Amino acid sequence: MTQAETQLDVRGLAKPDAYRTLKAQLDAVCEGVTDPVALMSTMACVLHHGFGHLWTGFYRRVDAKRLLVGPYQGTLGCLEIQVGRGVCGTAADKRFTMVVPDVREFPGHITCDARSRSEIVVPVFDHHGWVTAVLDIDSAEVGTFDDEDKRQLESWAAWLASRV
Ligand code: SME
Repeated sequence: MTQAETQLDVRGLAKPDAYRTLKAQLDAVCEGVTDPVALMSTMACVLHHGFGHLWTGFYRRVDAKRLLVGPYQGTLGCLEIQVGRGVCGTAADKRFTMVVPDVREFPGHITCDARSRSEIVVPVFDHHGWVTAVLDIDSAEVGTFDDEDKRQLESWAAWLASRV
């Protein structure tokens, strides 16, 4: 694969095709890789540049109450989020994907970049069902994420969990 091919842009495709294209790239690049930082970094990069998101990355569960920032692409992210706070902390606490069409209507939303308008946060579970991390994606537009993103990104999160 050439360097140019490593920065796929799938914004012209329907979502199922876009995710399928990026997942094929992720599978190829990560063949044989099991290191969590390498996998999280590569997943964040592929999604971020593929869709042109504002912020794409992971918060890792370091103990029962805290998430710490992990590999990401975008502007400076908050370093630490309490479980139960903001969209990321709520997804970690409730153990389900949060789709927020307009962050201004989510009480307690933590603003790291004032341009953020919508967001999806997907929990990553270990084989005991413990939330080990969340995948957080922010968009500069309202209503970017829907059930298709939820379904696709949950399968990406399961793929990550199965690799480490
Ligand atoms: N918006 C998130 C905080 C993390 S940043 O956006 C990178 C939240 O409310 O959980």
